[in-house]
Amino acid sequence: MVHKIRVGVLISGGGSNLQAIIDASKSKEIDARVVFVGSDNPDAYGLKRAQQHGIPTFVVDYQTIKKETSVRSLEDLVPKDFELQTCLQQNDQGLSLPFSDRIKAERYFCTRAIFEAALLREMAAGPFDLLVLAGFMRMLTPYFIDRVNTDPSQPRIMNIHPALLPSFPGVDGYGDTYRYGCKVGGCTVHFVDYGEDTGPIIGQKAFEITHDDTIDTVRDKGLKLEWQLYLECIRFFAAGRLRVVPRTYTLENGAEFRRKIVEIAT
Ligand code: GAR
Repeated sequence: MVHKIRVGVLISGGGSNLQAIIDASKSKEIDARVVFVGSDNPDAYGLKRAQQHGIPTFVVDYQTIKKETSVRSLEDLVPKDFELQTCLQQNDQGLSLPFSDRIKAERYFCTRAIFEAALLREMAAGPFDLLVLAGFMRMLTPYFIDRVNTDPSQPRIMNIHPALLPSFPGVDGYGDTYRYGCKVGGCTVHFVDYGEDTGPIIGQKAFEITHDDTIDTVRDKGLKLEWQLYLECIRFFAAGRLRVVPRTYTLENGAEFRRKIVEIAT
């Protein structure tokens, strides 16, 4: 019997990528089973899609948590195993979110840790092999990432981004691509690291943008490719074919460029 991987999915919105994954798991196009769907947004339509297929769902409402942190002391709310200084150091080393001052950075990481600890508690009910971010619109901090990636050599959080990374990271990949006047758009699936859409790239697909296109047609073209790309990448993961390996390139001026990349075993 083929071993099916257990896939947890986090969403914030409509969930068309989630739907593609559910459909492909039902039709056995991928050796995977969706074991839970979680959202930071109680109104996410994707939650209904999951419920229609009998998949357990949960919501950790980020806005409610943010409100709570404004009326209660952060110290009372942060999880016991959260180390603020470690998080700040990791941010300085890799992520460098542009906080205007230390107080803002501390508040951000504490609030995120409270939110992420609640997510982890919910996720603990459904053990998973792979966590798929499918339109999940919150950045995850090292607190969460390190607790999912318990073996750092085998990352297991995937994200889909609506642009050809490293161009146009952030919240509106298709919009940014279109407004820039690009002649090609695309989507990227990558493993999640501490940065914003910076993790090792697993797969990409591209489409042409012509003068007839509007932002809506660009989104439609992109989404259709996303559904295919996510399935391909999940298939590779399920088959144990993805390896993250360090690469060092020496540039013409002698400087070294280091980057972790994904190799797909044949
Ligand atoms: C997709 O286009 C996905 O690439 C994007 O959100 C959309 C979700 O659509 N994700 C991001 O922008 C993540 N930063 P869906 O809810 O219909 O799957």
